Amino acid sequence: MNIRDFAKLLRTRWITVCVTTLAVVLGAVLYTLLTTPLYQASTRLFVSASSGGASVSDLYQGNLFSQQRVLSYAELLGGGTVAQRTIDKLKLDTTADALEKRIKATVKPNTVLIDVSVLDESPVRARDIANALSDEFVALVGELETTTPGAQADSRVVVEQRASVPTKPLVPNPVRNIGIGLGLGVLLGVGLAVLRDMLDNTIKSQQTLEEIAGSSVVGYIPLDKDIRKVPALSFVSDNSGTAEAFRKLRTNLQFLAVDNPPRVIVVTSSSPAEGKSTTAINIALALAEAEHNVVLVDGDMRRPSLDKYLDLVGSVGFSTVLSGTASLAEVLQKTEFPRLTVLTAGSIPPNPSELLGSLAARKVLDELRAQFDFVVVDSSPLLAVTDGAVLAATADGALIVARFGKTKRDHLAHAVENLNSVGASVLGAVMTMMPARGGSSYSYHYSYGGSSGDGNRDQRKEPANFHSADAETNRPDVNTTADATSPRHLTERKDGDASPVKRSLD
Ligand SMILES: Nc1ncnc2c1ncn2[C@@H]1O[C@H](COP(=O)(O)OP(=O)(O)OP(=O)(O)O)[C@@H](O)[C@H]1O
Ligand SMILES: [Mg+2]
Repeated sequence: MNIRDFAKLLRTRWITVCVTTLAVVLGAVLYTLLTTPLYQASTRLFVSASSGGASVSDLYQGNLFSQQRVLSYAELLGGGTVAQRTIDKLKLDTTADALEKRIKATVKPNTVLIDVSVLDESPVRARDIANALSDEFVALVGELETTTPGAQADSRVVVEQRASVPTKPLVPNPVRNIGIGLGLGVLLGVGLAVLRDMLDNTIKSQQTLEEIAGSSVVGYIPLDKDIRKVPALSFVSDNSGTAEAFRKLRTNLQFLAVDNPPRVIVVTSSSPAEGKSTTAINIALALAEAEHNVVLVDGDMRRPSLDKYLDLVGSVGFSTVLSGTASLAEVLQKTEFPRLTVLTAGSIPPNPSELLGSLAARKVLDELRAQFDFVVVDSSPLLAVTDGAVLAATADGALIVARFGKTKRDHLAHAVENLNSVGASVLGAVMTMMPARGGSSYSYHYSYGGSSGDGNRDQRKEPANFHSADAETNRPDVNTTADATSPRHLTERKDGDASPVKRSLD
C-alpha cells in the first residue's frame, strides 16, 4: 500500500477513524473524571559534610563525601523508619508501607540536593506529611551520623525548601489524559480502518471487477437517490450524471463487437438488490434514445419488478406466452418512452428455470430479436437460481452487475462460474451505485451539464417525451403495441387509468 492508497483508505474509512478516536477520547475523559485527585507537596533537602578544615582540599573532600551520602539518604527517605516516625508525629491513620509508596526522593546528579515529594488526597495533608517527613529525616540523620554521643555529626541535612499547600492536583491531568486519548484513538482508528479494509471482501475497484468478471467494465452507474423513486430516467431531458453514465454504457456496448454487436443482452448479477432491474431499464432507455427499437424483457420470474418500476401490467407477460395462453404480440406493452416496448414477466410460474430453458423461451427471444434492434433482458440473481444463466446462454451474452461496496468478490466469482458453466458469455461488467466524489475515494465521476448522479431531476418526474401507445416506431412492420384483441385479463390490470396499456386498450 503506497501513500496514495493509504490516503484513499483514510478518506473512505474516515468514519471508523473518527468514531474510534471519539470513543477513546471519551474513555480518557471518563477516566479523568473517575480518578481520585492526588496532590503533591515537595521539599528540598541540602546535605553537607561537617568538615574539620577550611582548605580547598577539605572543602572538596567534604563535598565528595556529601554527594556519596545523598544516595544513601534518598534510600532512607523512602524507607519505613522515616515513614513510621512521620505517622507517629502526625498521628496519621495509615501504615508505613502505604505511606512509603507515596514518598519519592530524587537526587539531582552531581549535587548535594534531595527533592522529596509526597502524594496525598488532601493538599494540606500532603504539605504536612512532606514537612514532617523532612524534619524527621533531619533528626534521623543527626542520630545516624553521630558516632560518639555529644560529638558533632559527620554529615548534616538541612531542609532548604519547605513544602507549601499545592493548588492543583498532580493526578488526574486532564490535558495529558485527553492528549494521550487523542493520540491512541487516532492510532487505533487508523489501525481499525486498515484492518477493515484488509477484511473487506467487497468489490470497489475497476481492477478487481475486471479480474473477477474476466471482462472489461463497460459502465459505472453512480449512486442516485432519485432513481429509487423514479427508476426510469427521461433521457430526452435528463442530463444528470446518471443519464450520462448510461449513455456511456450504451456507447461501450456498441463497441463490444463492432462487426457483430450483441443485440440480445441479459442483465444479471450474483445477488439480489444489486441494481439489475434499474440498470436494465435504463440501458434499454439509453438504447431507445439512440433511435433503436428496444424491447425490455422481465426474465426475473421469481421477483419480477419491471411492471412495478414502469407502472405496467404485471399479470400477463413472458410466462403467459410460454404457457401458450397468449401470443407475444398480445402481451407486449408499449411504454410512455419512445421506441421502448416491455414484456413483463407475467404471473409467477411454479417452474421458472424450466420455462426459461425451454424451446418456447428461445423462440420468444428469437422472435423479439427479429422484431427489435435490441432485446434487454432483466433476470434473477445468479447465486440463488439458474434462471439468469439459462437466459444468458440463450442470449448473445450477459452484462454482469456488481454493486459498489456490497457485491462480494467470491459471490461474483461464483456467478461468473455459473455463466461460464452453461456456455454464456460475459459481455462486460457494470459497477452500480458508485458513491459520488467526496463520499468515497473510489468513486468515479460523470458530468454532462449536471455534476453527479443528481442532475436534472425535475424533468424526470414529468417526462416531456410522453407518447401515445401507437406512436413512435421506425419499423412499420413491427407490432409493438398491445392491440384491441389482447386477452381480457390485460384490462384487469392496475386500477390507475394513467397506464399507457390501459389507454391503448380503451
Ligand atoms: N444507481 C442507483 N442509485 C441508487 N439506488 C439504486 C441504483 N440502482 C438501483 N438502485 C436501488 O437499489 C434497489 C435495488 O435495485 P433493483 O431492483 O434494480 O435491483 P435488482 O438487482 O434488480 O434486485 P432484485 O435482485 O431484487 O431483482 C432499488 O431500491 C433501486 O431503486
Ligand atoms: Mg430485479
